[in-house]
Amino acid sequence: MKTIPHAVAITELDVDAIVIPVLAEASLPGGATHAVDRALDGLVGRLHARGDLDAGVGQVTPLFPERGLAAPRVLVVGLGPASGLDAEVVRRAAAAALRRARALGAKRVGVAPLGAGLADLDFAAATGATVEGARLGLYRYAQEPGVDELVLAVDEPRLEAARDAVRWAEAVAEGVELARELVNRPPNVATPDHLADVAHELARDHGFAVTVGDRAWAAEHGMGAFLGVAQGAGCEPRFIVLEHDPTNGQEAPLVLVGKGVTFDSGGVSIKGRAGMGAMKADMAGAAAVLGAMRTLGRLRAPRRVVAIVPATENMLDAHAYRPADVLTAANGTTIEIISTDAEGRLLLADALSFAQRYRPRAVVDLATLTGAVVTALGEGIAAGRFANDAALAAQIDAAAEATFERVWPLPLWKEYLEDLRSDVADLKNSSGKPRGGASVAAAFLERFVDYPWVHLDIAGMNLQSTEQGYVTKGATGFGVRLLVRWVTRA
Ligand code: BES
Ligand code: ZN
Ligand code: ZN
Repeated sequence: MKTIPHAVAITELDVDAIVIPVLAEASLPGGATHAVDRALDGLVGRLHARGDLDAGVGQVTPLFPERGLAAPRVLVVGLGPASGLDAEVVRRAAAAALRRARALGAKRVGVAPLGAGLADLDFAAATGATVEGARLGLYRYAQEPGVDELVLAVDEPRLEAARDAVRWAEAVAEGVELARELVNRPPNVATPDHLADVAHELARDHGFAVTVGDRAWAAEHGMGAFLGVAQGAGCEPRFIVLEHDPTNGQEAPLVLVGKGVTFDSGGVSIKGRAGMGAMKADMAGAAAVLGAMRTLGRLRAPRRVVAIVPATENMLDAHAYRPADVLTAANGTTIEIISTDAEGRLLLADALSFAQRYRPRAVVDLATLTGAVVTALGEGIAAGRFANDAALAAQIDAAAEATFERVWPLPLWKEYLEDLRSDVADLKNSSGKPRGGASVAAAFLERFVDYPWVHLDIAGMNLQSTEQGYVTKGATGFGVRLLVRWVTRA
């Protein structure tokens, strides 16, 4: 779907449907709603006064007026009470309105930036949230969105500002769409090699430097932990590095690391059969990092950014790594395997060690790492956020707040490491205990970092079973918007 800002009154838009907002308060908002109300001889105000328009967030009431407007359909969308109005409300409302427009068969839809000038939403934020919500709400796996054109009605003096906000929002949406698409693809398609192909494409499109390491490359780099996981995999593992450097090496980079387990069977410590298919989404961290790189490339973000994606399946065959094996990670740390299902931290151990060579300003990793974080925070509520640096943690929390990609702080105390003491190696890869697993995993990872670092455990945020606002069913694309917000403000 293309979004086209147009300096034209919404009442004059010759489209299949127009969208106007109402608030829970009695008075109608000014701007587009007011203009449409006037063109319809006060109909919208009368319906609202009678209680016939549901003003709850994302509630849509369709009207089919026969005169007064160029468009045959009006979708009145609720924004809730003015006191609660923010960018998140606008994203949800835009998604709901555009999905209803699609259901009514509309191909071209008109809207003025929702919420602009109401509450503290400025024009750019309202425009961005409207376009983001609309695009992301219309997303369907392997299908066109169904609406071809979103016409944004703006005042002439705002046209340039609208174009900038649209360019930004479209870049963000494209990144999220890429992440959702990769996670939704079946695991026999979205293989490590496939992720490497995507990385090469991104490199071509945006001028990134790209390195894709195979088994031999990983062995040269001493990545025994990553290779241990990959040992039983039929698909070739790929260690993917993308670099966006508009600073010509002048700046210490921000590094994004994403867990790329394209299917997690558990390995020899095999998972149960129930719901194992959801483990195709164990590369959601990788997908978020690749999605964010797409957005940052499109925006030509003026920051040096390195993306590191260790990608492999976790499978089992005669060569598979086993419980009691001892692996040596790239930084020399030896790891006793307790569970081959605690594989994500092994990939990340080598990826986080590899990141050290960049002397990064900060590193953020995203990983569907533990079931325990889902037990702690719930499904689809928040990612677990672990940090060794308070200033970086505050930046990530601010980005999470702004994007409504929520994170919640969990502890990284050294006591968690005591459960990982091994008799035969520096560390065990699992405590073998049923409790506290998210923090134990994070404490394991901390052994491989020597820079400001945040770890986001996004298990429970990668897939969702029903549509919620602009977050569609299936892959959520969680993390892309948060990463982009962080990088572009860091
Ligand atoms: N990929 C899983 C974690 C996961 C669970 C992601 C649920 C998404 C939803 C991870 O590799 C895993 O299996 N973790 C184990 C660790 C344990 C063996 C220490 C877990 O959480 O049970
Ligand atoms: Zn696992
Ligand atoms: Zn896993």
